[in-house]
Amino acid sequence: MGDQRPTNILCIGAGYVGGPTMAVIAAKCPHLKVTVVDVNAERIAAWNSDRLPIYEPGLDEVVRQARGRNLFFSTDIATGIREADIIFVSVNTPTKTFGEGAGCAADLQYWERTARQILAHSTRDKIVVEKSTLPVRTAEAMERILNSNGQGLRFDVVSNPEFLAEGTAIRDLENPDRVLVGSRETPEGVRARRAIVDIYATWVPRERIIESNLWSSELSKLTANAFLAQRISSINSISALCERTEADIDEVAYAIGTDSRIGPRFLKASVGFGGSCFKKDILNLVYICRSYGLHEVADYWESVVRINEWQQSRFVRTILANLFNTVAGKRIALFGFAFKADTGDTRESPGIAVARQLLEERAHVVITDPQALDNARQELEGVTGSVTFEPDPYRAAEGAHAIAVITEWSLYKTLDYARIFRSMEKPAFVFDGRNILDREALFALGFNVFAIGKKPLKHF
Ligand code: NAD
Ligand code: UGA
Repeated sequence: MGDQRPTNILCIGAGYVGGPTMAVIAAKCPHLKVTVVDVNAERIAAWNSDRLPIYEPGLDEVVRQARGRNLFFSTDIATGIREADIIFVSVNTPTKTFGEGAGCAADLQYWERTARQILAHSTRDKIVVEKSTLPVRTAEAMERILNSNGQGLRFDVVSNPEFLAEGTAIRDLENPDRVLVGSRETPEGVRARRAIVDIYATWVPRERIIESNLWSSELSKLTANAFLAQRISSINSISALCERTEADIDEVAYAIGTDSRIGPRFLKASVGFGGSCFKKDILNLVYICRSYGLHEVADYWESVVRINEWQQSRFVRTILANLFNTVAGKRIALFGFAFKADTGDTRESPGIAVARQLLEERAHVVITDPQALDNARQELEGVTGSVTFEPDPYRAAEGAHAIAVITEWSLYKTLDYARIFRSMEKPAFVFDGRNILDREALFALGFNVFAIGKKPLKHF
């Protein structure tokens, strides 16, 4: 590639990662031209409009700053590849639903298709960056495909996993705990890695940019997600014990989190973790471990997912048991459907499992959410039963027997619960799957209040 600094960056995949990541790179690096391409024309049109395809605090401002200046969204993948010096690949890598490894392994079809597209349209050497989360040693396959060209072109594959969380993506990208860049330890590999490091070094302090070998980088991403999810399953498992023993989960989390070896974050008990990645990445890790014959390691990580599924069902069982063992025909309002606050994303949201299980029990489920109703509708398409989507939480609760808080939107903390109580069937119940509401205040209003890992407050 020569010693001249590359200036044309391409990102294949304009999703939750590709869009925000490239917008921040473009905003921070006006000397680079950044193009984001996708096969999904509708998504690209939305990136070029005033209504971006994803809701993410601060994203509009960053896109507005760079779009049309050095940030471009396009469906012309061939031209994008031809002109690029560096190609980030940020396509989806979901769990495989068919064949060998179905339900566990990563589905690499989108990934491999991009490798072949890059090969088909390249006329000069390029650096290819794995931005998607991938099984450890994927870069080897990528290298084999790319370097099988008969034209003497050279492709250096670098791993640069993304650690942003939705809802805080812009903050995470602008001020990351760390940036990880892995490559082959050859002179060419190290040179490619440095080109990526240089981009981030424009705004990220050098000591927060970690360099490693390719395989460590790929595996660190899966491991980080597994560790984060494991903390949630750990605290959620203890929440069940709290409910039997009158210990309080927030007090326990605080007490253990003040130990600097444990730390306070990611200890919030909940209805369960959701999101597009934790489950798929852990299952992928499980699959990889099994394929290397490491069954004990696989079982260990698999239990993190099992506890999460159990926690979601446990929440529904609590609702059922306390509504006198039947919810058939009863209106139940789900407050929130996004997998966490400050996003419209509903992928793997615990709301899906909760809604489905309540519908199986023949409840009338009313879903409200400030950002996620369109996605909620799609998630529940084809599900049988009575389900309504209602933007206004007050109307959602009208005539309901119970409210179940699924998402920790701060708006739910400040609603007029006296008004809500008056409009509900009696006895009225609140099941707080996020422990965000003032339980004592709700109890004083007349509600029966159930929260995760807490003593129930009941009037009977
Ligand atoms: P996404 O589904 O939102 O976006 C992926 C995009 O890639 C889609 O728009 C799809 O149309 C496009 N695409 C697929 N194949 C293509 C092809 N051949 N050519 C052009 N475009 C193509 O996914 P996402 O949430 O952005 O995740 C992308 C990757 O990043 C995944 O591997 C994920 O595990 C990882 N990741 C996600 C997050 C997150 O918060 N969502 C965070 C860190 C890492
Ligand atoms: C997670 C990781 O935090 C990111 O570092 C990673 O890049 C990303 O996955 C990914 O690879 O996709 P994200 O899923 O966007 O980010 O959001 P998180 O904040 O991690 O929350 C995940 C789920 O766990 C949410 O449902 C959230 O409500 C839940 N959670 C989180 C808890 O139940 N308790 C907690 O203490 C923290």
